[in-house]
Amino acid sequence: MSLGRKIGGKLWNWLRDRYPMDEVVEFSEGQLHKPLPPHVGVWHTSGSLALFLFINQIVSGILLMVYYRPTTEAAFESVHYIMTKAYFGWLIRGFHAWGSTLMIVCVLVHMMRTFFMGAYKKPREMTWVLGVCILGCTITFGFTGYLLPWNQLSYWATQVGTEIAGVIPWAGEYIMLLLRGGTGVSGETLARFYVVHVVVLPWVLTGLVVVHLVFMRVQSLATLEKVGEEKPIEKGKGIPFFPHHILTEGVIFSLLIAGLFALIVLWPAELGEKADPLKTPEGIKPEWYFLSTYQLLKYFPKTLGLVVSLVPIVLLLFWPFLDRTPARHPRQRKVSVAIGIVGLAIALVFGVLGYYSERTVTVGGKKYHLDMYCVPHAVESKSVH
Ligand code: HEM
Repeated sequence: MSLGRKIGGKLWNWLRDRYPMDEVVEFSEGQLHKPLPPHVGVWHTSGSLALFLFINQIVSGILLMVYYRPTTEAAFESVHYIMTKAYFGWLIRGFHAWGSTLMIVCVLVHMMRTFFMGAYKKPREMTWVLGVCILGCTITFGFTGYLLPWNQLSYWATQVGTEIAGVIPWAGEYIMLLLRGGTGVSGETLARFYVVHVVVLPWVLTGLVVVHLVFMRVQSLATLEKVGEEKPIEKGKGIPFFPHHILTEGVIFSLLIAGLFALIVLWPAELGEKADPLKTPEGIKPEWYFLSTYQLLKYFPKTLGLVVSLVPIVLLLFWPFLDRTPARHPRQRKVSVAIGIVGLAIALVFGVLGYYSERTVTVGGKKYHLDMYCVPHAVESKSVH
């Protein structure tokens, strides 16, 4: 029985007298039962997970806005109120804080899956390019949101983060002033970051994601066949979007929600101390997704460092136009798979170096201080209190 007939009733007839409802139903049914390529499985749920987490960010963000106040006098106190007094405030902030981390993880996993399965190749180049813009927006969401609680960590991390913009030749100083709304991080910066975080980025990202999804549906998901050799999915060979793929997504969603709850309860989002522009705390580190760039910048003179850190971004953006080989299957693309793995390994190594730099660690009972370049220096036992 068709969806249209199932809905039935007076309301249906009322709508049908006024709108092309049969066409709407036909279109929806076509989309719902569209067969997916046979290799579609768990890895293909990463895009929908990112979408789910984006919706989670919007809903929890709107709820946080009810009590959040974007001024230097009230921002920290309003988040403290949310965490301690507002009904389920701790839970909503937890959903937002952990949701942002998981969203970045899901977007990165989704990008890796489309990279390793060669899904960015013709005709899906623009789906990938939009994806890279989406990744940029998602990270900017994280960067602007980090300042909003106005605590020591967020204040000083923003001070360091915005300084990087100042390194850009000629326009750097101006861009830094524009970002901060003055020479230092202040209430002006907070207001700017707030507007970008709650107004500009949500709309820009929504637009980008909608176009991304339309492209994906119009072109269908890529198979593992070579570019130009794709055959239509044979009857009975593909995976039905409904109910098969939706069920796989349901299982993964449930695990994600369980994981999200566990993280919120076991590692609640912290607030720390209120920002104090006169007291620089030790060991200021950016969020985990900036750690590798942050560390990389230390090994190069300022402007050169900026150029070096821009290389991966430009490569990512134009990758579908640089890799013009027809094979999609990872086993037939040894070079691009190797490039992907080396790129990931570099990001991971610099991320770990960034994490451990300027820290003291104990190895085999001996204490070492790792300097800013992560070079270990033995700590004299006398000097340790
Ligand atoms: C909020 C972020 C994003 C959302 C909500 C999203 C959503 C989706 C969804 C639902 C799909 C289809 C299912 C799947 O392949 O998982 C898809 C496909 C695709 N996405 Fe994304 N995406 C996002 C970010 C990205 C990024 C960062 C990239 C790459 C830089 C990317 C590149 C692609 C490509 C190339 C496809 C086509 C895959 C194929 O045909 O097999 N997406 N996206």
